[in-house]
Amino acid sequence: KITASNGKKLQKKKEKIRMCGIIGIASNKFVSTNIINSLKKLEYRGYDSAGLATLDNNIIKEKKCSGRVDQLEKILFKSPASGNLGIGHVRWATHGIPNEVNAHPHSSEIVSVVHNGIIENSNELKIQLEKKGKKFKSQTDTEVITILLSDELKNKEPLDAVYDTLKKLKGSFALGIIFKNFNNIIIGARRGSPLAVGYSKNENYLGSDSYALKSMTNKISYLDDGDICVLTKDSVDFYDAKKNKVNKKVLILSDDKNVANKGDYKNFMSKEIFEQPITARNCINEYIDKSRDEINFYNFPIQPKSINKVVLIGCGTAYHSCLVAKYWFEEFTTLNVEADIASEFRYRNLKFNKDNLYLFVSQSGETADTSAALDLCKKNGVKTCSIVNVVESSIARNSDWVLPIHAGPEIGVASTKAFIGQMLLLYMLCLKIAALRNDIDSQDYQKKIKNLKKLPEILEECLRSEDKIQLVARDFLDSKGSMFLGRGCSFPIALEGALKLKELSYLHAEGYPAGEMKHGPLALIENGLPVIVISPNDKYFHKTISNMQEVIARGGKILLITDSNKNVISENVRFTINLPYIEKSLSPFFSTIPLQLLAYHVALLKKCDIDKPRNLAKSVTVE
Ligand code: M6R
Repeated sequence: KITASNGKKLQKKKEKIRMCGIIGIASNKFVSTNIINSLKKLEYRGYDSAGLATLDNNIIKEKKCSGRVDQLEKILFKSPASGNLGIGHVRWATHGIPNEVNAHPHSSEIVSVVHNGIIENSNELKIQLEKKGKKFKSQTDTEVITILLSDELKNKEPLDAVYDTLKKLKGSFALGIIFKNFNNIIIGARRGSPLAVGYSKNENYLGSDSYALKSMTNKISYLDDGDICVLTKDSVDFYDAKKNKVNKKVLILSDDKNVANKGDYKNFMSKEIFEQPITARNCINEYIDKSRDEINFYNFPIQPKSINKVVLIGCGTAYHSCLVAKYWFEEFTTLNVEADIASEFRYRNLKFNKDNLYLFVSQSGETADTSAALDLCKKNGVKTCSIVNVVESSIARNSDWVLPIHAGPEIGVASTKAFIGQMLLLYMLCLKIAALRNDIDSQDYQKKIKNLKKLPEILEECLRSEDKIQLVARDFLDSKGSMFLGRGCSFPIALEGALKLKELSYLHAEGYPAGEMKHGPLALIENGLPVIVISPNDKYFHKTISNMQEVIARGGKILLITDSNKNVISENVRFTINLPYIEKSLSPFFSTIPLQLLAYHVALLKKCDIDKPRNLAKSVTVE
């Protein structure tokens, strides 16, 4: 406890933040195997502990463990959990130990609960319940729900008991619940965190997203905020926040072949890196009319000529694609443009303008900060557009206009092919807006489209830098850290290169605008420090090369990434990766590839978990 200056005792707020995965299955056959399979798919949302509970002959069977779903599977192998009804959970914790006790479900004698989200008043509720003699086993906020609900169930039917429990909770959450004495129902509830229902013959499902349900059904519905659903194997009933029965639209999911299949690759990340030419081809096929060399975007939410400013918003790698696009919009259009990190945007004192186009970029379409930034825009009545990979996602569903990148599922936590897809869509959008506003000369526009059509094959060529990159990667093993430098469009690519290396190999890396080095970071350069210089054949080329010389003079070990054949390169450059050149503005696509390969190979040499780097999750659904 800490004491405020006015003498009042404050409970130090122990946050229990989770962005977990939920699955529920009601069936006419045993469900534990399918729960395990779905949890494996949900591990992208969190993988520090896992658990499930099934119901068999009015007995709740709970199995939990710290660590991954594989571990839970081993436990089930030794001690199976029978039952035709069950719920499962994967957890991602930032506070509290990810141990077996804190893993979900949280069960009492009569009820078992899985939860995604935060119960903000859990401390107060816990104190009240403890005063009444209730005992808590875990340090989680979820157990408050279990205890409250168990009390409500003493004299109420499950649906009423759930409604009355939820009235006491503050925060945002999604829940899946089973009941000892009602052995054919699962109740799901949504307030804030997404929740979906899937339908099949003799089987119905609950899931924190459609991805978990995809292998079992392609028919799904989404709960809206405040909704509750009651599932049996043969029926699903939905109720709104006022307990009125409501109908839901059934959506048919697109069919993604080879979803979770690594093929001959060691891991998903390498598969996804090498899939990038295909990603680019699909995206180009989707949006470019090759016979007319025209970009097809319809239904613009704002007349392109009346756009005042473009505001680009995203997190992590998606934000880096926004930064690259900022340079493109400035280059090709007369528009003002800003790029913002969603977690900053959502709390700034912004002046919204209905003539601004607010563009949200997100692979998953579920990132909490990006989603909240989108909600803020909607509340302020401005037009929104989202660039997403997952078309069924919350961000896609809440935007006025959606542009899917068609990259197919990205499973590796480190974003690779989605980044190329995001940049590609932003590039096409920028060109199209420039053309519609007459900001770009029509010949230049056509030439850029022609060059863009060559992108997939040039990406293939860039991937051939892998052999050389494997040699370079060894330099990073003994280094204290590394720096990534670039100017113009190559600056965000430097940021992205550094992010990939940090995320995958746990080595310190800094991305910097090359021109900023003298203002402090140059002090970090010492003998043997790896410095990656991204210097394509653009207006910054000579300036960046001068900055590189300053680094060499101080002992930096240079990896130069360039598409220029200008002969100004020092012999002191340790390695040069020569990339193909077709057009200045396309260089970010090409220089990204060796950087992804570099991060990948350093992580491989360090034997890191490539697809699931420590402390991270694929989809960051809490702020
Ligand atoms: O799903 P999103 O694109 O919204 O995710 C945003 C970031 O969390 C994500 O790009 C993250 O930075 C990646 N793990 C980086 O590789």
